Amino acid sequence: MAILLHRFFLFMLFISIFISSIDANSFTLFTAKSAAANAAAAGRPNPFTAKAAALRYWDRKIPGGGRNHPSFLTSKLSPLSAVDTATYSTLAGANPSSLTPHLPALCSAAHLLCSPAISSSLASDSKDSNFVSYENRNFTNYGTAAAGGENSFKNYSDGLNVPVDTFRRYSRDSAGHEESFAFYAREGNVVTSNFSSYATAATGGEGRFTSYHQESNVPDLKFTNYNTDANGHTHTFSSYADDTNAGDQSFASYGKHGNAAPSSFTSYGNNSNVIGSTFTNYAEEANAAADSFASYGLNGNVPENNFKNYADEANVATETFSSYRDQSNVGDDSFQSYSNGGNHPTLKFSNYGNSFNEGSDHFKGYAMDANNPNVSFKGYNGDITGFSSYSKTGVNFKGYKNSSVVPPNFSPERMAETMTPVRSGKRVNRWVEPGKFFRESSLREGSVMPMPDIRDKMPERSFLPRSIAGKLPFNATELSGIFGAPADTALGKAVADTIAECERKPSRGETKRCATSVEDMIDFAAEVIGSSAMPRSTESADGSNGQILIGKVKGLNGGKVTKAVSCHQSLFPYLAYYCHSVPMVRVYEAEILAVGSKKRINRGVAICHLDTSDWSEGHGAFVALGFKPGEIEVCHWIFQGDMTWTASD
Ligand SMILES: *[C@@H]1O[C@H](CO)[C@@H](O)[C@H](O)[C@H]1NC(C)=O
Ligand SMILES: *[C@@H]1O[C@H](CO)[C@@H](O)[C@H](O)[C@H]1NC(C)=O
Ligand SMILES: *[C@@H]1O[C@H](CO)[C@@H](O)[C@H](O)[C@H]1NC(C)=O
Ligand SMILES: *[C@@H]1O[C@H](CO)[C@@H](O)[C@H](O)[C@H]1NC(C)=O
Ligand SMILES: *[C@@H]1O[C@H](CO)[C@@H](O)[C@H](O)[C@H]1NC(C)=O
Ligand SMILES: *[C@@H]1O[C@H](CO)[C@@H](O)[C@H](O)[C@H]1NC(C)=O
Ligand SMILES: *[C@@H]1O[C@H](CO)[C@@H](O)[C@H](O)[C@H]1NC(C)=O
Repeated sequence: MAILLHRFFLFMLFISIFISSIDANSFTLFTAKSAAANAAAAGRPNPFTAKAAALRYWDRKIPGGGRNHPSFLTSKLSPLSAVDTATYSTLAGANPSSLTPHLPALCSAAHLLCSPAISSSLASDSKDSNFVSYENRNFTNYGTAAAGGENSFKNYSDGLNVPVDTFRRYSRDSAGHEESFAFYAREGNVVTSNFSSYATAATGGEGRFTSYHQESNVPDLKFTNYNTDANGHTHTFSSYADDTNAGDQSFASYGKHGNAAPSSFTSYGNNSNVIGSTFTNYAEEANAAADSFASYGLNGNVPENNFKNYADEANVATETFSSYRDQSNVGDDSFQSYSNGGNHPTLKFSNYGNSFNEGSDHFKGYAMDANNPNVSFKGYNGDITGFSSYSKTGVNFKGYKNSSVVPPNFSPERMAETMTPVRSGKRVNRWVEPGKFFRESSLREGSVMPMPDIRDKMPERSFLPRSIAGKLPFNATELSGIFGAPADTALGKAVADTIAECERKPSRGETKRCATSVEDMIDFAAEVIGSSAMPRSTESADGSNGQILIGKVKGLNGGKVTKAVSCHQSLFPYLAYYCHSVPMVRVYEAEILAVGSKKRINRGVAICHLDTSDWSEGHGAFVALGFKPGEIEVCHWIFQGDMTWTASD
């Protein structure tokens, strides 16, 4: 009752403020209800909503904007009602962490990206289980000491936003138990999966992961003490994290001390984009381990793979990498203390690193001090300058990329000498998506050019009203706490990264502001551009990944240099934009036509940077277009979800 009264009081307060701020001539008799009804009848938003308040703020701050509110931005305004806005703003004002207990309601009413509340834990069930269409469970001591049987997880956490899945001591000490995960966390957004002490000391049985985290966006996947001390418990990963975007996976103490507990990874990270994988103490001191990686990281873009203390001190381990990182684009691989010590390790690399674009490879302490190593690199196409502390015996290079320089008695140090030295340790050898950067001269009617993928891949969210967002601390630790997203979850990491990027010092000539509300963004645009600022964005993502024909082109500000504020979406629980203004730009609007039919498919907004002298030499634009910083102008499209503000024409 108390809270109801409190809400009612706030609501009345809000109405009285609102009434006092409007023109008394237009409304003589005024009630919230009739205003809402009138607004609805006229197709305008209810004047008491957060959205209506934001639009009023916009018109007041930018009176010369012509009340032009493009829908790509208005669709992102907060859907909160007046009452909810007032309630949450009061709570946030008193103590931001008092919002935490209200998160489920707030997140749903305000359309935010939040981790769902984790359902009660499932524990100590040793029966066969069939989990279909499950979500957000916390499994602890589940299936412990199970004998035989199978648990299967299908369509688990499918298509969810920010799920957090925890498995702790799952299937521990089990015997002959099968766990299968199929279509697990598919098409998820900002997914966290945490398996710890999974199948520890299990005997026999098998863990199978198929279509695990396929097409997910920004996943954070962790396996700790998985299959440790297991005996003959097999685990297979196929189609693991395929087609994912920008995530991290780590395997620590995976299969450590295991006994004949083979693992196989097939089609791991196929077609993924910027994924980091770390394997630490993997299969360490294992006995008769047989691990194979096939089609690992195929076709990936900038994959980062890090193997540390992998299969060290193992006994008769066979580690096979075939078609490892095939056709992938740059990235880095590092093997450190891989299979050191140990007895009779057999390490087979075939068709390794047959990359589309070479990345860097570092092998350090590889098969050193092992007894009787049998290492073969067949068709190894990696960067071979990164070998050090390498076993001098039992290593065999066949079909090496540059076989003409492989001396009969191979020594990696010598090989390093004979190859072209790499400057500053890291190769600048990158591939840039066609059409991502282009010259200003391409922006004329009739030119055909490739269009990059400009789709907005971020999960959908709305802005919070500034009366709430402005009261939340812009501090990763505190904000993650409020949103229940610990630092080791995918969302927690995103929050920390966004804040770090916001706190980065601006570059020379750049003015930047992180806008955590649309009001912040409007303020910044008004400050830089003046009272006629107007946002523009490319109309849709149509034409992405194909050739396009340029139709009519219009240069804003008569094609002259103009002031512009570009805003890029950040991954955050509520919409937040990284906005910056850089001098010396021209902004264009161009019709985008289908090459064959010449039909209009899109209207693009492009920005051209005329002064690139401060850009780094390795900038993707110069990789794609040639030239050096300052020698050319560089243009790019404004991607879906991003925008640029300029003076309205
Ligand atoms: C899962 O359940 C266990 C045991 O009930 C509990 O200790 C743990 O905190 C829970 N984890 C999460 C993330 O809810
Ligand atoms: C699970 O997902 C697959 C793939 O989309 C689909 O074919 C199947 O019908 C789904 N099953 C359930 C029970 O939702
Ligand atoms: C990798 O993905 C591509 C395209 O999605 C597919 O054609 C290919 O079969 C996949 N490769 C494997 C080994 O699954
Ligand atoms: C090394 O392993 C290969 C299989 O990968 C095998 O054919 C060969 O006989 C082994 N060599 C030694 C010396 O054990
Ligand atoms: C192979 O080595 C020779 C001799 O050092 C060198 O001239 C040649 O450019 C190398 N080829 C490649 C593809 O690196
Ligand atoms: C963020 O908040 C935490 C906890 O209140 C504090 O320890 C830390 O110093 C803050 N960080 C910054 C950069 O202010
Ligand atoms: C993951 O599991 C580890 C070990 O049980 C635990 O310390 C950590 O808090 C978990 N993290 C998440 C996000 O559940």
